[in-house]
Amino acid sequence: MDRAQIFDIAHLRHPIAAPVGPEQLRHLVGWLSPPTGGRAVDLGCGEGEWLQELLLIQPGMTGVGIDHMLPASAVDRAAQRGLGDRVRWAEADAATWSDGRFDVVLCVGASHAFGRLPDMLAAVRTHLRPGGQALVGDTIWEDSPSASALAALEASPEDFPDLAGFVQATREHGFEPSYGHTSTLAEWDDYEFSWTGSLVDWALREAPTTEDRDQALAAARVHRDAWLGGWRRQLGFATLVLHDVATAPS
Ligand SMILES: C[S@@+](CC[C@H](N)C(=O)[O-])C[C@H]1O[C@@H](n2cnc3c(N)ncnc32)[C@H](O)[C@@H]1O
Repeated sequence: MDRAQIFDIAHLRHPIAAPVGPEQLRHLVGWLSPPTGGRAVDLGCGEGEWLQELLLIQPGMTGVGIDHMLPASAVDRAAQRGLGDRVRWAEADAATWSDGRFDVVLCVGASHAFGRLPDMLAAVRTHLRPGGQALVGDTIWEDSPSASALAALEASPEDFPDLAGFVQATREHGFEPSYGHTSTLAEWDDYEFSWTGSLVDWALREAPTTEDRDQALAAARVHRDAWLGGWRRQLGFATLVLHDVATAPS
């Protein structure tokens, strides 16, 4: 199995590929107020949960989900929710893809597609119509990271900001944050246990070969050890709703 297959199995029970619960996700997208008939794009959409929930509460909107490894389940879930004719999926590199300007740009947990946080914010701006809104989510430090957290993440302290640094970066890119959410420890634990638990269940119940079983179990154990011995309580995740104030019409 390759990394993408492991990732798909790990997210079977948590289609949001971020430590955010479904109710918090719905609450966050409820802060977006696009015009009737507006367009949204989800950069690095994964299963497309953010885009789909937005379209469900904004019946006049259409949207595009961009991912370089689009899961088939994204298309299936959209069809089951009656969104098949309002959402378009594109398997493409979000760093180079382009299709005009959007009223809403979503980018959660996918900054690495562009580089780091400032690169993601710059990319969001290129897709956003003047005065539009964005919803962005990224990892932050909850506190000064320990040596074990840095080792588990293969990261350095400057790889992620704290919450104040994240907010400041959005302002430096011409955005004004309105609402924001920081993932709770319960959301993180649910996310990580869903990740590792989906792999364990699949390995012990469904794996077609012994090799697949061993590989899935090994991936779950490595991830669980790194989480519990490394980043738990230290790595945070913040999701911010942003207004464009750099190019908004006065
Ligand atoms: C952590 S997941 C987040 C998915 C989704 N935004 C969510 O919150 O559920 C990151 C996603 O970014 C996608 N991705 C990474 N690099 C990309 C790139 N260069 N172009 C498009 N998608 C990319 C991955 O395939 C993955 O689906």
